[in-house]
Amino acid sequence: MVLIDGKQLAKKIRANLKIECDELKQSGINSKLAVIMVGNNSASKIYVKNKSKACDDVGIKYEEHLLDHKTTQKELIGLIEKLNKDESINGILLQSPIPDNLDINEAFRTISPEKDVDGFHPVNVGKLVLNQDTFVSCTPYGIMKIFEEYNIDLCGKNVVILGRSNIVGKPLIHCCLNRNATVTTCHSKTKELKEITKNADIIISAIGKANFVKVDMVKENAVVIDVGINRLDDGKITGDVDFENVKDKVDFITPVPGGVGPMTIAMLMNNVIKATKRQNGMID
Ligand code: GUN
Repeated sequence: MVLIDGKQLAKKIRANLKIECDELKQSGINSKLAVIMVGNNSASKIYVKNKSKACDDVGIKYEEHLLDHKTTQKELIGLIEKLNKDESINGILLQSPIPDNLDINEAFRTISPEKDVDGFHPVNVGKLVLNQDTFVSCTPYGIMKIFEEYNIDLCGKNVVILGRSNIVGKPLIHCCLNRNATVTTCHSKTKELKEITKNADIIISAIGKANFVKVDMVKENAVVIDVGINRLDDGKITGDVDFENVKDKVDFITPVPGGVGPMTIAMLMNNVIKATKRQNGMID
């Protein structure tokens, strides 16, 4: 079994991005990310802190907009429009979730597609579906980087994705399809789940339920990617996979923490640098 070291790979990617960021600085270009958070979600606070730390590491400037939970849709859209126009800002990220009374879809589609480093704008999602160059949502993109690094070829493989969120499951479908995998997406209404997962060469779980993926659901020598970040009663973080029992049956597995999580943030940094280069006419 190979334990996939997402932390190490993310570190390597960040070190390379730092070199690119320094080169940009030498040309007088300071890459900058703006992050918007609305309300007081405790998980979001941790994610946002990690993003700001990663920016610091790579040398990307970082600007945070913490909005009160009483913020109106008009105020949120107004801020996004202001950031769209601000030429010093290369990437805009609206941390989800936001309070229920706000329309997150409208907010995401207000972010300029050129600054949409999360890859959530319908134009960028559409480009991914059409297999055109775009900003790919960071978690699916990080998983594709793991496959590249560990020489896991998706061509012709049965990939089973658990979860169909807009942030992870849906973009993953297209990332895998674009690499010629045979893709099956399962979700809460799927019947005979075990019969499907047992045939998977690669299982990617993004459902947010601790210990959901059990050893009898997994084929021998499969690849298991665990996107789950679940907090147990004792405060420990665990993934969706029953890691202790599954690990000895499979060829590759990601740990939680230290697997997919750090890759998500590394790919966000990658997208910010890419946005900066694009906006400065250095790449298409
Ligand atoms: N909330 C949970 N994951 C993410 C993410 O990748 N991007 C944003 N914007 N919000 C999130």
